[in-house]
Amino acid sequence: MSVTITIQPSGRTFTAEPTETLLESALRHGISFNYNCNNGSCGKCSARLLSGELGEILPHDHVFKEHEKAQQRILLCRAKPSTDLVIEATEANASNQIAEQSIDTIVHKIDAVADDIRILQLRTPRSQTLQFLAGQHVCLSIDGLAPRNKSIASCPCNGMYLQFHVREVPGDEFSEYAFKHLKTRQKVNVSGPYGDFLLNEASTRPIIFIAFDTGMAPIKSLIEHAIALDKTQPTFLYWLVDEYSSHYQGNYCRSWVDALDNFHYIPLDIQYQNNKSVDIDRLQDGLKKTAEMIVTEHPQLQEYDIYINGPAWLFSDMQEVFTAAGVPSEQMTIDSMKRY
Ligand code: FES
Repeated sequence: MSVTITIQPSGRTFTAEPTETLLESALRHGISFNYNCNNGSCGKCSARLLSGELGEILPHDHVFKEHEKAQQRILLCRAKPSTDLVIEATEANASNQIAEQSIDTIVHKIDAVADDIRILQLRTPRSQTLQFLAGQHVCLSIDGLAPRNKSIASCPCNGMYLQFHVREVPGDEFSEYAFKHLKTRQKVNVSGPYGDFLLNEASTRPIIFIAFDTGMAPIKSLIEHAIALDKTQPTFLYWLVDEYSSHYQGNYCRSWVDALDNFHYIPLDIQYQNNKSVDIDRLQDGLKKTAEMIVTEHPQLQEYDIYINGPAWLFSDMQEVFTAAGVPSEQMTIDSMKRY
């Protein structure tokens, strides 16, 4: 039977199963406690038990000092609950609350989801998972290549398996390497996390996500995080790709529509190429028309939170259209990181 965990001082609550550690339950519910090793050695997930009874305590190497024991210190990654609990713990809600980490991962899987898109999954050591917030990016370093920033496409609920979306871009060193040479079990160093493309967790406003091409990666992370948080407000995902590309995770997006009451997925093709090279004017025109269509479809747009992922210079017209429709700038979050 599940129990309720109340966190102080925030007052947030989450449900936990007696078979799971408190850290596992919290991550599953989108709560970001400080942690690192997930095996009881680093001590970073230390919290105070204020009331209630613990169940099983898994073995751990971290040793609490006498005064910490007197304070009822526990390790969230080792303790399972047996009753409702009140704990005092630090939650990370902003990028500056998470320390920069450097982790040697290995390539777990490379999926060819389209001719020109690979989904790369990296696996951290079990004892050194990545703590990050949904929507953030990391720097990937492979021996012999210049480091490359990439958005994490997976959700912080699993810091051990990290997903990235890679587009084939001829002439781009990282992209060409990922398509031609990268192998499973190869070492990739991950440093980070970085960036403030974060979900406004406190907001109950309807949400519009706009993803451009592989800019779907951090949007997917935000949506999975919103689902973990049980967000119930109406949510609209517009995914824009060019006419020669594909909505390579379209089925996954449709599964959100099936599973969630208030989720809407709108795949859009934007035609902006001439003989397979980008026509900037057509592209900006297409983005502006998309923005105008969104304004028409959502007459109360000023009441929405809007998250846009893609190169910022492409989205200036779109932003202007939304601003003219009354959307305050603080309700528009744009991630303008370069990505392929
Ligand atoms: S002791 Fe390291 S995360 Fe719990």
